[in-house]
Amino acid sequence: MAQASALLNIMMDAARKAARKLNRDFGEVENLQVSKKGPADFVSAADKAAERILVEVLEEKRPGYGFLLEESGAVKGTDPSHRFIIDPLDGTTNFLHAIPHFSISIALEREGEIVAGVVYDPMRDEMFRAERFKGAFLNDRRLEVSSRALMADAVIATGIPHMGRPGHARFLKELHRITPHVASVRRFGSAALDLCWLAAGRYDGYWERNIQLWDVAAGALIVREAGGLVGDDTGENTIDPAIIIAGNAQIQPQLLALINKANA
Ligand code: IPD
Ligand code: CA
Ligand code: CA
Repeated sequence: MAQASALLNIMMDAARKAARKLNRDFGEVENLQVSKKGPADFVSAADKAAERILVEVLEEKRPGYGFLLEESGAVKGTDPSHRFIIDPLDGTTNFLHAIPHFSISIALEREGEIVAGVVYDPMRDEMFRAERFKGAFLNDRRLEVSSRALMADAVIATGIPHMGRPGHARFLKELHRITPHVASVRRFGSAALDLCWLAAGRYDGYWERNIQLWDVAAGALIVREAGGLVGDDTGENTIDPAIIIAGNAQIQPQLLALINKANA
């Protein structure tokens, strides 16, 4: 078991503190489900409150670092080489519907490279973390991607574009290409957790288009540090929120090939 660094401990503390607030609010959402007005406004307030807590803790411990925040956008710091990339609540639709599957995602970028990542699932008390070149962990267990090599055995996660997003027809084309070859496809609703579950060997592959850097910055590092591959549709080993194709080293190239066939 590797001891987490001071930096990761700060990021994990921030996530745990924000999670306590999200947990309380999740309990409230379960009550609001049955009310006439519904919980939408309440959830967007919960989202912002979690983000404020994260910024407060991180600013105190790492003064001067910048931020890229889902709710508040880019915040310049006095230290131009560091910024935290944060999604305070990944899986908002789940949260809004009282479905207990969501996460907090925090990445640290240094000189344009993601060097640390934390994704916390408060419902399962699962803390995923990684630092570049130092491996990935779930709580205190070292993570490794699955060793499944055959698409026929693979469970693949994805995200389905929702109302207001582009790419509905293309998603169906890709799904149509992939489903005959794989054991199953899952859409659980938190991209950050999709990547972490891939790192933990629960999923064998993952693809999604048109997401945002805060959805995937931490999770992509966690996958790579668990021995997996994260790339785009040209085969480039990059984190491009326009198209993420990830998997263990055997499955990722096969998934990439099917996606490219679907669009040929
Ligand atoms: C969403 C989740 C979902 C993905 C969407 C994201 P949000 O983030 O990560 O899994 O499919 O594209 O927008 O809105 O819940 O923070
Ligand atoms: Ca998100
Ligand atoms: Ca979010």
